[in-house]
Amino acid sequence: MSIHKPTPHEAATLHVTGRARYTDDVPLPSNTLHLAFGVSSVAFGQIADLNLSAVEAAKGVVAVYTAADIPGENDVSPIAHDEVMLAQAWVQYAGQPIFLVVADSHLNARKAARLAQVSYTEHTPSLSVDQAMAGDNPFEKAQKFRKGEPQDALKASAHQISGRIDMGGQEHFYLEGQVAAAIPQENGDMLVHSSTQHPTEVQHKVAHILDVPFNAVRVETRRMGGGFGGKESQANLPAGACALAAHLTGRPCKMRYDRDDDMIITGKRHDFRIEYNVGFDDSGKLNSVIMEHFTRCGWAMDLSLPVADRAMFHSDNAYNLPHAEIVSHRLRTNMASATAYRGFGGPQGALAIERVMDHIASHLGVDPLAVRRANFYVNGDTTPYHMEISDSVIAPLVDQLAASSDYEKRRAEIEAENLANSTAILRRGIALTPVKFGISFTLTKYNQAGALVHIYTDGSIHMNHGGTEMGQGLFTKVGQVAAHEFGVTLDDVKITATDTAKVPNTSATAASSGTDLNGMAVQDACETLKARLQKMLRGHFKTKAVAKFADGRITLGKHQIAFKDAVAMAYDARIQLSATGFYTTPKIKWDREAGRGHPFYYFAYGAAVSEVVIDTLTGENRILRTDILHDAGKSLNQAIDVGQIEGGFVQGAGWLTTEELVWDAKGHLKTHAPSTYKIPACSDRPPVFNVELFENENVEPTIHKSKAVGEPPFLLGMSVFFALSHAIGSAGNRDVYPSLNAPATPEEVLKTIYRLDGGGYGY
Ligand code: MTE
Ligand code: MOS
Repeated sequence: MSIHKPTPHEAATLHVTGRARYTDDVPLPSNTLHLAFGVSSVAFGQIADLNLSAVEAAKGVVAVYTAADIPGENDVSPIAHDEVMLAQAWVQYAGQPIFLVVADSHLNARKAARLAQVSYTEHTPSLSVDQAMAGDNPFEKAQKFRKGEPQDALKASAHQISGRIDMGGQEHFYLEGQVAAAIPQENGDMLVHSSTQHPTEVQHKVAHILDVPFNAVRVETRRMGGGFGGKESQANLPAGACALAAHLTGRPCKMRYDRDDDMIITGKRHDFRIEYNVGFDDSGKLNSVIMEHFTRCGWAMDLSLPVADRAMFHSDNAYNLPHAEIVSHRLRTNMASATAYRGFGGPQGALAIERVMDHIASHLGVDPLAVRRANFYVNGDTTPYHMEISDSVIAPLVDQLAASSDYEKRRAEIEAENLANSTAILRRGIALTPVKFGISFTLTKYNQAGALVHIYTDGSIHMNHGGTEMGQGLFTKVGQVAAHEFGVTLDDVKITATDTAKVPNTSATAASSGTDLNGMAVQDACETLKARLQKMLRGHFKTKAVAKFADGRITLGKHQIAFKDAVAMAYDARIQLSATGFYTTPKIKWDREAGRGHPFYYFAYGAAVSEVVIDTLTGENRILRTDILHDAGKSLNQAIDVGQIEGGFVQGAGWLTTEELVWDAKGHLKTHAPSTYKIPACSDRPPVFNVELFENENVEPTIHKSKAVGEPPFLLGMSVFFALSHAIGSAGNRDVYPSLNAPATPEEVLKTIYRLDGGGYGY
């Protein structure tokens, strides 16, 4: 049995010994050229003069290209055809590529790119939410979900509060930056190696740029050194640039962004401002929730509409909102175009309702967990988008975690300690937050996948599917599925690079659905092959018994044959040993205009308890302990799933604590390197970190009853944020709610303490 086992990642040994091949490691011919972009130094303006003569004359430069050199469409957008690869008359953000340098080395290309003389007619950039709202030029009209009579219900509620939370964006900081290489093939065809979550989209964009049909472009992706959503659409640009230069020079071309360039050029997580008006009863049970989302999408549409939609979809998180109105503004700003990032807007939407829970608890003077419990979904409730909840495990899951983490006792101790030492400088806080995360692409057509499985005559298996490997363990899990089907070991199954020539018309590996979709497509192909082998063996053994594939053997009643002998026999009998597979997710439907439907196949659940300590003089803070209980259904691979949960939690905690993006008044990103942008380090993980999988199985017939696990655990990081809020709240006037904003950097923690009106510290 290969499934439901904590098998190590299929490339773990290659990763840790440095032998895993990433795009930059693909051996290329010695005549390969190297690329760099020349970028805009202003956030909004017209190019008045572009003098590239010094660039052209620089050492090692072979060619310099502008938009005028593109034979096809000048566009790298995923949806809207609004994202030029190279700027034409206008520049719309500081860092936008204007021209492309092609040189004999990476360094020469980069050095030459700085020699351009560009003058601009500058215009006032739209940077803030307020500027963008005043400018009234959003990407689409405000979207709305509405359930019940929220305005009337608000007025009729025993208690009402209102507030606002601002939350920052987040740089992906994949360890491997954006990189691509293009190698011209015969007769104008192009082979592209790309570090992308979406090889098919890279294929389409390259074809449009070169003005060739899709069948002239082949894209290959063996693995990424992390994507996290940042290579869902952002990989189009370097791949497009490589293909353009390879097409025009006839030589292989490679492009690898320097870290600073990567941070300046590429889009990040969307930041949000969310305002709320909430009505509830004496026990903290919600009656009405009215929320307004404002998100800065940057200069181009990219994936902003579905990201902002998912923020709306998760604005209930794990709670029943009897009456609700969620309004969302998708704002155009002169910044890099914000994009997908683990959770895809979900974390931002959920953070606001968790803030509401915390705020209600402060208002009523009770434990926030009591308020959360009063509002958990029970099966039969409906979401603000009118989907009935039928698989909730949130209440029992939270009960189990509260018990195993000793939440109540620890909270009482912390409360007592904080009250007894009203002048203590170090103060602790604790919080439990839940997660409910909807699984499926909200654009229904993306929920399809294909696979290609070959059995060679020695019994070894070669397999491809449409998903990409970015460290999340997709290839391992899908390999386990195939090994299980044939009753062989994972070592007998080889999965090679994702390749548009092998499995066509794929969706991005995203929305956490990689295993759900590709696992099922692979299983489908395996079933076809197994049926052929069974038919042959039934004839051979003269039996009607069902063939069982296990332990390297096929058994039909009292007959048995080694898997590889059966395969050899099939070849001799001229039976096809190769098959494709296909899968589409059932049950889902979504009417975007009406804000109604069943957009998710199912939900994944989880909860975390974090304890933190803050220094009230400096704002410094640390996580002391985190306990997590997470629902991965019937886990296909417990080791990989726990790895996803740990990594997701730490990344989520980083978003809400140390990772801060700062733009100056002219729209320049000031935090474009690890010197000024702080991601969590190994030493920032909780010293006590207990992670358990919740005993569960998917109520839907997903692949072996497992659940998607890639993104949901990111939201567990919210427990750290509300533990900080708890610690801060103890440091001053308890009648004032500490409206903490994210990220809760030391400065933000200090500012929030100031707002609490002293508290004996003499601020
Ligand atoms: N885990 C690692 N190690 N690296 C990544 O880039 N991306 C995350 C998540 N986990 C990521 C990761 C994101 S944003 C998604 S959508 C899922 O993995 C995608 O893979 P899956 O669908 O196979 O879970
Ligand atoms: Mo993940 S943000 O859906 O790539």
